[in-house]
Amino acid sequence: MEKVREKKTGRKGQKQRHTKRMYYLRWTRHERIQHWLLAGSFIVLVFSGFALEYPESWWAWPFITLAPAVDLRGTLHRAAATLNIALALYHLLWLIISPRGRGQFRFMILRKQDFRDMLNMLRYNLGKTTQHPRFGHFTYWEKFEYWALIWGTIIMATTGLMLWFENATLRLVPLKVIELATVIHLYEAILASLSILVWHFYFVIFSPAVYPMNFSMITGYLSREEMLEEHELELSFYENTEPIPTNEPR
Ligand code: HEM
Repeated sequence: MEKVREKKTGRKGQKQRHTKRMYYLRWTRHERIQHWLLAGSFIVLVFSGFALEYPESWWAWPFITLAPAVDLRGTLHRAAATLNIALALYHLLWLIISPRGRGQFRFMILRKQDFRDMLNMLRYNLGKTTQHPRFGHFTYWEKFEYWALIWGTIIMATTGLMLWFENATLRLVPLKVIELATVIHLYEAILASLSILVWHFYFVIFSPAVYPMNFSMITGYLSREEMLEEHELELSFYENTEPIPTNEPR
């Protein structure tokens, strides 16, 4: 069961004018540290990776100006890739050994209901129905994003390690495979960067449901209003107003 806390809001000095707002634990500190380390390593990978591909671009100037003699881009890219792979392995271990990790993973499993939710959301956005779909612990887009991240990390790490250890790879596969890995690495890098910029940032920053931002990855908590907006089934489960969320396992 998630922890729920009550927080008093209201300005100091205002007599008896405090409103009590309910907050629900969304991310533990440990999960938030994992997220921000991943975000940090990803930003460095994107910046150094595209600077390797487009060294003449204006935004690649720090690499050229600050360390013209050293391969700063390649070194940074490999350092961030090491952190990124270590985080992925750590995350896998956490999913296996920790009860909280196993619980979160069960919530992440894709179910038929997620695809129904997606279609119903499309119908709602097209004005075909007035009923907004109601979501449980993870919405369908959060699940899709998570699985895209897992898939993308496997592709980037595999192709990246092939490029990193080119000589060892060449002993196992023909040169054409390395060339293919280079193309896949570049195109998946473009896809991954765009999906963070467009997809992830829409849902956590620009979506009218959360604008100006979903702060839960900083504070760890979602307010009752935010829960009502995106996790109504889970909220009703906590508040006992309904039976069990239909699209989530118990
Ligand atoms: C996570 C594991 C990753 C590993 C092990 C890895 C490794 C590498 C290596 C060894 C290179 C060649 C560097 C050089 O020429 O000096 C490279 C190139 C590159 N990487 Fe990564 N990388 C990873 C993830 C990423 C990610 C997440 C992105 C961006 C989203 C990215 C974007 C790029 C780009 C754009 C290039 C240049 C491609 C080219 O030269 O055609 N990489 N990577």
